[in-house]
Amino acid sequence: MTLTRAEAFAPATMANVGCGFDILGLCLEAPGDRVVAVRRPEQGVVIAAVHGDGGKLTRDPIKNSAGAAAKAVLDTLGVSEGVVLTIYKDMPLASGLGSSSASAAAGALAVNALFGSPLSKAELIPAAVMGEAAVSGFHADNVAPCLLGGVVLISGTTAETVQALPVPERAVFALVTPHVAVPTALARAALPKDIPMKQMIHMTAAVGRLVAALYRDDLMGLAEAMEADVIVEPARKHLMPYLDEARAAAKAAGALALCISGAGPTLGALCDSAEVAARVELALAGVYAERGMDATTRISRISRDGARVLSTE
Ligand code: HSE
Repeated sequence: MTLTRAEAFAPATMANVGCGFDILGLCLEAPGDRVVAVRRPEQGVVIAAVHGDGGKLTRDPIKNSAGAAAKAVLDTLGVSEGVVLTIYKDMPLASGLGSSSASAAAGALAVNALFGSPLSKAELIPAAVMGEAAVSGFHADNVAPCLLGGVVLISGTTAETVQALPVPERAVFALVTPHVAVPTALARAALPKDIPMKQMIHMTAAVGRLVAALYRDDLMGLAEAMEADVIVEPARKHLMPYLDEARAAAKAAGALALCISGAGPTLGALCDSAEVAARVELALAGVYAERGMDATTRISRISRDGARVLSTE
């Protein structure tokens, strides 16, 4: 049976997980984007509409992350038809929650589903990376966890370079997104070009400790490793309003660690239960309210499922 329409959902992600710049990422449960793909007889990708972006995103399919990912899937499948996409954004742009990746993953998954799902979610990673690259660069630390779910270690941009890590059962994140946009390009431009050997050793050890902690299901070990970033957070800190105050308030309310989510400005506080996360969420909200800055808070566990097809017809 030839399908005419497919809809997919892809959730927010937390890239880097503190110390793992560009090589670690985890999948959150929500929020997320939806993409509807409808078959059309002509080749290529058309973006019919983008909802929920406040008119900020381009409808040019080459420059839009969902459009570029959809095009990459069509090219991979070698089909002679094309697709019309409708994109429903439900996450803030330039917030560190992997907004462009969620659209890319949902676009790739919807198009793949429309043509009978010949590719696995892991096999869609390169196409989703093409979508991410159209907006923010060639790194898979958002798209890989977004598609696959869980916590992943990424050493490239293909299925074979992504390694699933154990998901800590008790982990719950309290997240706060101050209402300032931090474009990934700006956050990347703030990074040093060269790293002293001593810092490199420290960061390598931190990633090793983080992976080992996941295999031990050791939340405290995970927390310490997450916060052991001596390169990226110090370089980007000036772009993250009230980071020190948020960390202090989160920890006073019971959080085990706090780190920048992706390129920021969202901050994620690791907690060991939903009850603690609820207290930490309130504390984080208070930090920004007291200083007169709008901010949105959320609570999420780690999603084991990642992106999913919602319907086909
Ligand atoms: N690893 C990337 C960064 C994630 O921190 O720049 C943002 O897309």
